[in-house]
Amino acid sequence: MDRIRIVGGRQLNGAIPISGAKNATLPLMIAGLLTDQTLTLENVPRLADVGLLQRILGNHGVDIMVPGKRPGDTEHDSQTLQISATHIVDTTAPYELVSKMRASFWVVAPLLARMGEAKVSLPGGCAIGTRPVDLLIMAMEKLGAEIEIEAGYVIARAKKGLRGGEIVFPKVTVGGTHTALMAAVLANGTTVIENAAREPEVTDVADCLNKMGAKISGAGTSRIVIDGVAKLNGARHSVLPDRIETGTYAMAVAMTGGDVMLEGARPELLQSALDTIAQTGAEVTSNNHGIRIKRNGGGIAPVEVTTEPFPGFPTDLQAQLMALMTRAKGTSHITETIFENRFMHVQELARLGARIELDGETATIKGVDKLKGAPVMATDLRASVSLVIAALAAEGETMVNRVYHLDRGFERLESKLARCGAAIERVSG
Ligand code: EPZ
Repeated sequence: MDRIRIVGGRQLNGAIPISGAKNATLPLMIAGLLTDQTLTLENVPRLADVGLLQRILGNHGVDIMVPGKRPGDTEHDSQTLQISATHIVDTTAPYELVSKMRASFWVVAPLLARMGEAKVSLPGGCAIGTRPVDLLIMAMEKLGAEIEIEAGYVIARAKKGLRGGEIVFPKVTVGGTHTALMAAVLANGTTVIENAAREPEVTDVADCLNKMGAKISGAGTSRIVIDGVAKLNGARHSVLPDRIETGTYAMAVAMTGGDVMLEGARPELLQSALDTIAQTGAEVTSNNHGIRIKRNGGGIAPVEVTTEPFPGFPTDLQAQLMALMTRAKGTSHITETIFENRFMHVQELARLGARIELDGETATIKGVDKLKGAPVMATDLRASVSLVIAALAAEGETMVNRVYHLDRGFERLESKLARCGAAIERVSG
């Protein structure tokens, strides 16, 4: 298993190209199931999760073509996927595949909408919490699906097709909103989603579905209205930039000091996180090319942050902010309200010398002058990258184990950081 070795203490200076968003790419690929024509996705990041979803969709009969390199392409160019679900040969998504990636459960909605049936394994718990799918099931039932749960599988049927309905989510759910959208676009009649997730990735998926011929309005607000259509076509869509990758590198620069341009990043996708980063003492500016983060001298100021659905501070940046706060001049508090168990990084940050106390959903972080390198590992993607941020500022060497978590969601992390002066390398084997 690969590891990443980091020797801390260097500033970051230069430019980092921001990739397409993982959490938009996955539902966009799944949306390809809704049409028998080709959906072309551009700006797709090269990530392990994308490869895994390719395999899962392949099992349903979807062909995915990846055109080769073109003259002038560099290693930092994204890929284009041509997704063709001309014939769906299998409407079952087995446990062996769904258990490897939770988002693959979302195939249930387009399979049900297009084929009238789907059998998809329940995803089970994961390192950040129990993560139920009751609200996804509720959304499909509201559109007329009959749902049974049998031997760990959700079996959804709508032999006469889905019909429009009203879906009121009792709590904001990204996956629930994707499911409702993908079920409603081919339903007979109008669907209204209340308390919909406003995350930019939901808007990106809705934009793509509209290019495919869907009639969706209100995406990006908490009320989305969908007029069902009989059929969707192919389309071409470019994935929006990854706001979590953007925020992660922004926090890395705030941690080490330096001056980095995050190329292609869009501030409106993470304004609340950028405001927090500015409060910590870094200078945040943006222009048409991206977002520039600068911190030269001066300490890191402590902050009080609570994670919230968009447009609040994202749970997917909570671990990274905690890493930054380990070296703040004072005490900070971070409250996690989205996932009950998303503090797996606390024990590992402590191995580097961080002082963090947990009380229920709130972490109290007492800033220290120095972190010291150590071997560490983490059990999920964002926790792993928080260890990278801490290691970049720690004295001596840190070895981050279980790098496959990073490969699931960060494209060429070590080369992007090394280009800006970090002493970071992948150790194979
Ligand atoms: C998406 O997960 C993201 N995953 C997560 O990114 C992200 O942390 C999360 O949204 C919140 O922003 C992808 O986009 C692939 P939710 P999702 O449904 O859709 C509860 C990462 O690191 N809930 O918005 O699964 C749930 O337990 C990840 O890239 C129910 O109670 O999250 C949580 O408390 C990990 N019942 C809250 O809602 C349900 O049926 C929000 O979860 C569904 C969710």
